[in-house]
Amino acid sequence: MREINASIPFDKALWRQDIAASKAHVAMLGAQGIVAAADAATIAAGLDQVAAEYEASGVPENWDLEDIHMTTESRLAELIGPVAGRLHTARSRNDQVATDFRLWVREAMEQADAGLHALQVALVTRAGEHADSIMPGFTHLQTAQPVTLGHHLLAYYEMAARDRSRFADARSRMNQSPLGAAALAGTGFPIDRHATAAALGFDCPTRNSLDSVSDRDFALDYLMAAAQTALHLSRLAEEFIIWASQPFGFVRLPDSLSTGSSIMPQKKNPDAAELVRGHSGRIVGCLTALMITMKGLPLAYSKDMQDDKPPVFEAAGLLTLCIAAMTGMVQATTFRTDRMRSAAELGYATATDLADWLVRQANIPFREAHHITGSAVKLAESRGVALDQLPLDDLQAIDARVDARVFAALSVEASVAARASYGGTAPEQVKARVAEARVALGLE
Ligand code: ARG
Repeated sequence: MREINASIPFDKALWRQDIAASKAHVAMLGAQGIVAAADAATIAAGLDQVAAEYEASGVPENWDLEDIHMTTESRLAELIGPVAGRLHTARSRNDQVATDFRLWVREAMEQADAGLHALQVALVTRAGEHADSIMPGFTHLQTAQPVTLGHHLLAYYEMAARDRSRFADARSRMNQSPLGAAALAGTGFPIDRHATAAALGFDCPTRNSLDSVSDRDFALDYLMAAAQTALHLSRLAEEFIIWASQPFGFVRLPDSLSTGSSIMPQKKNPDAAELVRGHSGRIVGCLTALMITMKGLPLAYSKDMQDDKPPVFEAAGLLTLCIAAMTGMVQATTFRTDRMRSAAELGYATATDLADWLVRQANIPFREAHHITGSAVKLAESRGVALDQLPLDDLQAIDARVDARVFAALSVEASVAARASYGGTAPEQVKARVAEARVALGLE
């Protein structure tokens, strides 16, 4: 029982929140005359001392005391005597743990937001440097049309912006204080829940005591936002892994985020990116773990809910690492723009531009233009040359309406410059989006 019951090995991570919530509670008890003012002051000073001890030497782990709440109360009693017993008036560990955990998750949300802001700064900075750098754009991981590297990086900026809005949304929804819900039904003492809510930075108290002690949807909201963020980071990591592979050779990864092989001296492996890809699976696992823990629980608190903390703590630790790793990777990677540009020239990435030119200049219906272009690509392929290296005569043999102006449309530069629709890949569009993003991030 002692072993299965103990949560102190992991919930000691809540000690700061536990002390803060207890101080808010006892200050309110004193102000309401539920506990004598002198006793409230003694308890508050004692809590400060316990906090100082935890800060200096860590939280002691005595499994008989089960959790952080009992551990703190027991140490408080050792320090100030029986008056410590008045702290638990008008509360229960059920509202206590719900409050502590909310405070912890709120901080984790803020930390994710700050980390994602830093990632966005890195993405926008590199995108600004590479608004004009041309690379192949892919669909099905097959060369599709040339794009700019800045545009590609800004795609991840947009994902991070939505991830941040998910955390912000979750934070605003969860920022209500469960303290005072007591065990499940509220309390007969004349407590002031608005005061404790305000003292702990909550917008207001929760409105239903049963709900307050028995739901963990705020933790699930966090995990859902974390899982979505992790999926985005995993996709970005995968890009770097592919780009760093020799046949691509689009990037040289920073040494600080790579490792060597113990047997192959030439190897430089993208371990950090691979671990981001791997960790994203674990974060999704944390989300499913807590969803399944919660799914069958009747109101109100059940001990299953003690298992809410390990997946949230694990996911938060992993997410912080993943965001930091990808931020460092974006900041310090060398983009081999020469290799990217040559790759963009392979694979007939400007075939659409030939078809578009036929539509615009020769007034040919797009489907027919598509067919003519197909013949031109086939011919170029059989000769092993790029589209714009085909002699005009040969192009005209395919369709007489082609003229010399077409070559200007077939370069990769012309191709990206032409895609200047709002949100398109043209350098001018990328520069405009970078400028807006810099303002949004508070950089300008
Ligand atoms: N250690 C418990 C948890 O983390 C604290 C709440 C205990 N409440 C109870 N009624 N046994 O959930």
